[in-house]
Amino acid sequence: MSVANQVIIFGASGDLTARKLIPALASLAQKKKPAGGFSVIGCARRPKTDEQFRAELREAMPAELKEAFDVLAPSLFYLATDVSSAQDVEALKQKLDALPGADGGRLFYLSLKPELFGPTVEKLGAGGMIKFVESTGAGEEKAFRRVLIEKPFGHNLESAIQLNQELHKWLREGQIYRIDHYLGKETVQNLLGLRFHNAIFEPLWNQVHVELVQITVAEDLGMESGRGGYYDSTGALRDMLQNHMLQILAFIAMEPPSSLDAAAVRSQKINLLRSLRAPARDEMAENAVRAQYSAGSVNGKNVPGYREEEGIARDSQTESFIAVRAEIDSWRWAGVPFLLRHGKRLEKKFTEVQVQFRMPPLQLFNKPEGLSDDEFRLKLRSGELCQIRPNVLTLSIQPREAISLSFGVKTPGNTMVMAPTKMSFDYRDKFGAQTAPAYERLLLDALIGDPTLFLHGEEIEASWKFADSIMRSFAEGVPALESYPAGSAGPETANRLFHGCEGGWTRG
Ligand code: BG6
Repeated sequence: MSVANQVIIFGASGDLTARKLIPALASLAQKKKPAGGFSVIGCARRPKTDEQFRAELREAMPAELKEAFDVLAPSLFYLATDVSSAQDVEALKQKLDALPGADGGRLFYLSLKPELFGPTVEKLGAGGMIKFVESTGAGEEKAFRRVLIEKPFGHNLESAIQLNQELHKWLREGQIYRIDHYLGKETVQNLLGLRFHNAIFEPLWNQVHVELVQITVAEDLGMESGRGGYYDSTGALRDMLQNHMLQILAFIAMEPPSSLDAAAVRSQKINLLRSLRAPARDEMAENAVRAQYSAGSVNGKNVPGYREEEGIARDSQTESFIAVRAEIDSWRWAGVPFLLRHGKRLEKKFTEVQVQFRMPPLQLFNKPEGLSDDEFRLKLRSGELCQIRPNVLTLSIQPREAISLSFGVKTPGNTMVMAPTKMSFDYRDKFGAQTAPAYERLLLDALIGDPTLFLHGEEIEASWKFADSIMRSFAEGVPALESYPAGSAGPETANRLFHGCEGGWTRG
């Protein structure tokens, strides 16, 4: 029989708890997942009663989740806790021992400032609340002790290594669940399905057939909800590219795993991330762009420039936009550019991957009038004439959840002119409106002990190694910091990352 478990949230007064964690847990409680149920204990410094905690959270719930919240509410508790106080740590232990689920597993969710991850785990360990628990595989152990950690996991390679070491003093790797909420998104998981279930794509998925891959995560948001202080010490590279974008890239480019279990999938991701290469120092000026937004208009609303936002230094050098042309040193991908782009306050929010296939070896179609075959080929070879790439696979991750493949068809008439068209699939058309939110999927996985969609410590370190080399160059002022108007598609100069006839950035 399954036993009830406990979910202990540190940072329970924070925005994430009300916006993402409690809605996800309420939805799980309503669906009676996982079997056996769970209780939730919120911990933060501010004193409040269980009733106050419940009332505040209920208030924050969107209307459609109030019913689910009422299912969870009786299992929701609160304890004012300062983990640096030995007394509070002891009080927490007693509370956990007294609450439902005391004999079951415990999932500690650290939604805290990153500098508190290590010390909190240390206190929980010293206080006897976590200890090494050998995983029996497939999450079978009943009295599990797992720690779920929010990003940012370190701020560079060195701090990530140090944090991994601090965690490993008290926990085995299998007990550490490093969250990247992008892996909870259906459309990100579907990247694996698309590649490894459909045998037609994989034979083309290499440097012989793929000319270029581009990944865009565009956001229209700026520094809302008082995020300026955090963001200004973080920037686009660390906030999005080092984690979410490299995870998408890993799914796009990794070798096929031998099964879908955590070890098989994660070891392929680790290998891929280790073979990822940032532009060398003297290639950075041509192959990377960093910029900040200036005042502009987004969705019809006037917004201030980055340096005018609350919490941002007036002379800040932090980038709110980044674009990088990276490569992967592997037989599969050698020479194929992987272009990554992310920015805040762009014209709209969208996340999209495009896999651009090469042109056919010989161009027979779309010859401009008046050119001989020889002149046509000469102009194509020299790059004087560029043709649109007919075959592009577009994977729309959000807000549209769709896949489309473009190809050329002959325009009716007596000339040999090919026109672009596409085959499309849309998640909502096929499966209806809602897929479960990312946090719901990830919390359930952590409770049942499936770490496949969480990051292994070595993945994090490989990602930081890549980010560090870019950061070193940024710190030396290379490339120079540029600016783009809020509400635009980013700085024009980001187009320089496309060489020759490779095309340009997707508009989403
Ligand atoms: C977070 C970043 O990890 O992801 C935010 O810290 C960003 O800056 C957010 O806005 C984007 O998530 P999503 O799911 O809205 O694309």
